[in-house]
Amino acid sequence: MGVDNCPFLQLPTELRLAIYSFALLDSPVVTVGSAELVGSHPDVVHRLYGQRRTPHSGLPQNHEPVIEPCYNSSLLSLVNPAIIPLAPATSCPPEEPPYSTPHATHGSLLLVNKQVKEELDSHFKLEKNRRTSLFISYPDGLHVLRTLAPHLLRQARSVHIAGAYTSRSFCAPRAACLGSSAHPPFIDQRYNGNFTPNSAGHLSNLIASLFGPNASQSRTGGRVDVQKLELRTYYPGSDSYSTVWGDDNSPTVIALRNIYAGEVSIEVWRGQRGTGVYLSARPARKEGEKRRVVSTVWRRLEEGRRGEPRCGSWVVDPAWPCWEEAEQEPPTDATVVSVGAASEEET
Ligand SMILES: *[C@@H]1O[C@H](CO)[C@@H](O)[C@H](O)[C@H]1NC(C)=O
Ligand SMILES: *[C@@H]1O[C@H](CO)[C@@H](O)[C@H](O)[C@H]1NC(C)=O
Repeated sequence: MGVDNCPFLQLPTELRLAIYSFALLDSPVVTVGSAELVGSHPDVVHRLYGQRRTPHSGLPQNHEPVIEPCYNSSLLSLVNPAIIPLAPATSCPPEEPPYSTPHATHGSLLLVNKQVKEELDSHFKLEKNRRTSLFISYPDGLHVLRTLAPHLLRQARSVHIAGAYTSRSFCAPRAACLGSSAHPPFIDQRYNGNFTPNSAGHLSNLIASLFGPNASQSRTGGRVDVQKLELRTYYPGSDSYSTVWGDDNSPTVIALRNIYAGEVSIEVWRGQRGTGVYLSARPARKEGEKRRVVSTVWRRLEEGRRGEPRCGSWVVDPAWPCWEEAEQEPPTDATVVSVGAASEEET
């Protein structure tokens, strides 16, 4: 296609760059998750299946993918999860699945011609490419990200994942405390299309792409590393502590297995009804450094009793969407440092 007969290329460069930015979803904060459709049975069925639609496979039944160009804590919350209330008037989904469009647009812009591709490449090199803070629910948001908007990960300056993990040997009555939520994030979940995503594998890939042995290869082309990964996992159940470290699919174990170099700090929040593990990782201070430093502290999780936050609400950091870029100097010699007293728990 020649320049003359392509109206897009006749636009001023700045305008084209503005269009590229929009197409690439230039939002400082993005939240990825899913929300349950709530309404009468016919409305839900119409929303999911009307006009030959099919539900997004791999999400819990009656859930729809949601990608918002802002911070939305309810997409991450276990205790007040996001819902989409349906009335007959809203039972058709938005015209386009939200934000799957920019991806498509980016792809089609690249097809326009070589000049556009070069402009895109140099523009985003200048911008250092990573500007977005990406908040993802686990496991559903992770699946939505992979299937609808994988390009968001390449733009992310920081990645924040929040969710619950229950092991297969899980005993339901012990986590009854969480059962009050409309959508317990576990146990006998039925998925659209009878397809259960491999959340453990996908989390491994995501973390390896940011912190694995080959992650630094993506530094070529003027890109910079992601500045921070935060992983907040709630393990429901009074005896869930062993799951944190003992289960191969535990998100904490997956993260430690896939972070090759960098500074990792772990806070283990032990409670009577569940355990919260906050893991954060930053790239090594020096380029090319192969060392991994892990520090761990134990804290007490107060939840579920009168006057305390509801069980599982810990998973959403109240400070979000703010996050600290720098952390205190980690200890220089020790690889594992324990601070605080585990015996506190017993009192
Ligand atoms: C968060 O997302 C849900 C689901 O899309 C939406 O219903 C709700 O209004 C959003 N909340 C805010 C504060 O934007
Ligand atoms: C890293 O790259 C090497 C060479 O390209 C490849 O053999 C290896 O499997 C990669 N490792 C991971 C964890 O992807």
